[in-house]
Amino acid sequence: MQKKEISKAVINRLPRYYRYLGDLLEKDVVRISSKELSERMKVTASQIRQDLNNFGGFGQQGYGYNVEYLHSEIGKILGLDRKYHMIIIGAGNLGQALANYADFDKKGFFVKAIFDINPNLIGSQIRGIEVKSMDELEDYLISNKVDIAAITVPKTKAPGIASDLARLGVKGIWNFAPTDLNLPKDVTVENVHLIDSLMKLSYRLSEKDEE
Ligand code: NAI
Repeated sequence: MQKKEISKAVINRLPRYYRYLGDLLEKDVVRISSKELSERMKVTASQIRQDLNNFGGFGQQGYGYNVEYLHSEIGKILGLDRKYHMIIIGAGNLGQALANYADFDKKGFFVKAIFDINPNLIGSQIRGIEVKSMDELEDYLISNKVDIAAITVPKTKAPGIASDLARLGVKGIWNFAPTDLNLPKDVTVENVHLIDSLMKLSYRLSEKDEE
């Protein structure tokens, strides 16, 4: 498979292709044309062809796309052909909600430990995963491979914790704290802000009101 520089917009669309193809696989659909895929996903067929051509094109004229192959190739592009060990820093409302979500495992993201400073939480378990003290974090990171750390602590605490994680070799930060993190270039940060999504929704609602 040939790889060239892929735009962020295309990368942003790939998880959705992956999900749709996963649903089709579950329904034992073997192949699909770009037209059918476009109708289901409400994306133009030419957009789909253009997007997938970025990766050398997986379709065949007159046959369409082989669902299993396309699903697995997009999975590889997204890095889902490997397993990720994850920890969560902050076992409050959000940290617990993430830890309780079992479906991350199915995609290869395994929550191995949760860390907090609250003595009432330390030693408890969430979905069988132990909440450890922050005092144990450094030793844990020295003896365990951690690919991704989710940060679900108050925003004032997040930058310091993120820097510590980076210094201790964590290369992926899934940041939920509403603050920017300035980390070395070799650390990849993905920010998730539900409020941004709500603001986009409110913008669209108010646009409709004006119509
Ligand atoms: P919470 O107060 O329920 O949980 C925060 C947890 O962090 C507590 O258990 C606390 O003991 C722990 N903590 C505090 N300082 C710590 C430290 N230095 N080291 C380790 N643990 C520490 O708060 P909630 O609702 O879970 O929110 C957590 C963070 O996530 C906040 O920054 C909040 O703004 C953010 N958030 C982000 C959302 C998003 O869409 N990105 C949605 C909801 C919350």
